[in-house]
Amino acid sequence: MKKYLVVGNPIEHSLSPKLQNFWLNSNNIEAIYGKLQAYDDDLKELCSSIKNGQLNGLNITVPYKKKIIPHLDVLSGHALRTQSVNTVCLSNGNVTGYNTDIDGFELSLKKLNYDVSNKKIIILGAGGVVPSIIYALKKMNAPQIYLSNRTKEKAQILKNLFDGIEVIDWGILPDFDMIINATSLGLKENDKFEIDFSKVGNKKLFFDVIYNPFNTNFSQAGNKPGNIIENGLNMFLFQAQKAFSIWHNIEPKIDKEVIKFLQS
Ligand code: ATR
Repeated sequence: MKKYLVVGNPIEHSLSPKLQNFWLNSNNIEAIYGKLQAYDDDLKELCSSIKNGQLNGLNITVPYKKKIIPHLDVLSGHALRTQSVNTVCLSNGNVTGYNTDIDGFELSLKKLNYDVSNKKIIILGAGGVVPSIIYALKKMNAPQIYLSNRTKEKAQILKNLFDGIEVIDWGILPDFDMIINATSLGLKENDKFEIDFSKVGNKKLFFDVIYNPFNTNFSQAGNKPGNIIENGLNMFLFQAQKAFSIWHNIEPKIDKEVIKFLQS
């Protein structure tokens, strides 16, 4: 039987096994998808297991999206450009890394019918998923992207990967149309933002990359009349759909049934 794993640390919150096993069943594919709390030393062996066929595919999540790269043979164009990998499998005998977060983010904005081409956007965070978000925003012609991270140096490093990014101090909020929480703040129940959102006006899009829990402090801060609130669920579903297509050559359905199942 084919075997797939999502690999990260922490990994408890991941809904990937629930979703991927649902799609495996509904598409009558004989395979199993599990999760692994991994450490740096495990990455090499995981990639060897892909090479020798003991494992058939990996999803990579925090904090390994970049750290996995030295253990891969080949990168897709998107993975190379962002130095971020979230999907791995064997392709023509090569252990190959793909990035489906870019498509996940882009498709979730398209589903909202949100046009970024005339918007000022603030990204909070500079971790593994941020290069994919910047790449997608630039692809959709976002004219102004501010990057803010508690550890400013990490934002500066990301700025060097892309043109036209402005790094701002953590806690400062210039006028914006869309703000994205790409930090891990909100994954834990007691997480609090030390940023004051109270003076932010309306007609803003608050986009939280976190999907579990479905409601976070960040989405609550943006929950005012006239604002749009989006959590990471659609981004999660679309990136997972692309990964499934890479592995199984079938595009699984995203419909009410699968969303209801995930939230059950
Ligand atoms: P990694 O940084 O290892 O890639 P990540 O989960 O992708 O892991 O990124 C975590 C992000 O959440 C980082 O931007 C981190 O900020 P630092 O670079 O300063 O660590 C941010 N983050 C985590 N805890 C935070 C907190 N308490 N306050 C502000 N930002 C926080």
